[in-house]
Amino acid sequence: RKCIGVMTSGGDAQGMNGAVRAVVRSSIARGCRVFGIHEGYEGLLHPELIKEMDWISVRGWLSVGGTSIGTARCKDFYERPGRLIAARNLVKAGIDALIVIGGDGSLTGADKFRSEWPGLLSELVEKGELTEAETAPVQHLNIVGMVGSIDNDMAMTDATIGCYSSLQRICEAVDNIDSTALSHQRAFVIEVMGRHCGWLALMAGVSTGADFVFIPEKPFKDNWQEKMKEIIMKHRSLGKRKTIVIVAEGAHDESLNKITPEHVKTLLSNDLKLDTRITTLGHVQRGGLPSAYDRMLATLQGVEAVQAVLDATPETPSPVISITENKICRQPLMDAVAATQSVAVAIKNKDFDKAMSLRDAEFAE
Ligand code: F6P
Repeated sequence: RKCIGVMTSGGDAQGMNGAVRAVVRSSIARGCRVFGIHEGYEGLLHPELIKEMDWISVRGWLSVGGTSIGTARCKDFYERPGRLIAARNLVKAGIDALIVIGGDGSLTGADKFRSEWPGLLSELVEKGELTEAETAPVQHLNIVGMVGSIDNDMAMTDATIGCYSSLQRICEAVDNIDSTALSHQRAFVIEVMGRHCGWLALMAGVSTGADFVFIPEKPFKDNWQEKMKEIIMKHRSLGKRKTIVIVAEGAHDESLNKITPEHVKTLLSNDLKLDTRITTLGHVQRGGLPSAYDRMLATLQGVEAVQAVLDATPETPSPVISITENKICRQPLMDAVAATQSVAVAIKNKDFDKAMSLRDAEFAE
């Protein structure tokens, strides 16, 4: 009988609760035991944070934002001594599979843990912390990843759990700003999250009809200031009473100089004489109810994650559950992580064409 641990890690995202709910209920329906690992990887280091879950424990979770089992960015797990403690606690609980819901960093940590697994167990037996009898039933650790992040920054999947709720939240905020901007004929510079990824900013720009958008993957040429002013003045000359500029938090110019909302505001107010305000949306984007899409995505992927645990052999590379062309699929986890990281490398090397081509279809020009 499989014994599955489920955890959320890294920044929370709307829909994570739906994912945990689906994993818990699907595990039980398939005859497995299931444990919630609370507070992200921190929970693996503290036995009292590893709690068995039943059908009722996730009642009502589908529509609740955030992650009710908690999340954290845990430094200790990234060192081997931390992973030894984690291995001991999992074996003591009888857990032989982990479903991790998080971003690329959290999923990489999980795969590393799996790769060290038999070695960690022998070391614990040598130290007298576990017996051969305790480790015998858990010789293999299955890892399955699910991507929970508002940033939509993971390669090899069309959408991460949370990104469409966050996009919705941004659109609602821009709609609210629109009415006051229109009244005063003002300009607003709106900073949105996304870390090194411009998906939220770009899609918010498309969805709200913004005048100008800055994203990390495709910076404007060095004369972007003139270009932006020209476009905004053109829109104003056509009778537009408001101006909306969206700046991704990771935006920069071609020389990798950060483009800040303050910088954009100075140009709009000093050069174009527009009455300009800055709004930083911040964590509002990560909070609140999951959208219908995220509930659906989390549920379908949670069911698939449990199936992936049941299908795994010791040789199967750890999978990550994706949605690709509207189908729930499995991808090799470390391939997806490597492709994700190569976008950051391309940006660092100022190879912006490559950065764009590595992003998913939504980014195509
Ligand atoms: O990865 C999700 C995210 O919200 C990013 O968009 C943002 O850069 C970061 O997390 C903020 O992290 P924190 O909540 O730790 O401030």
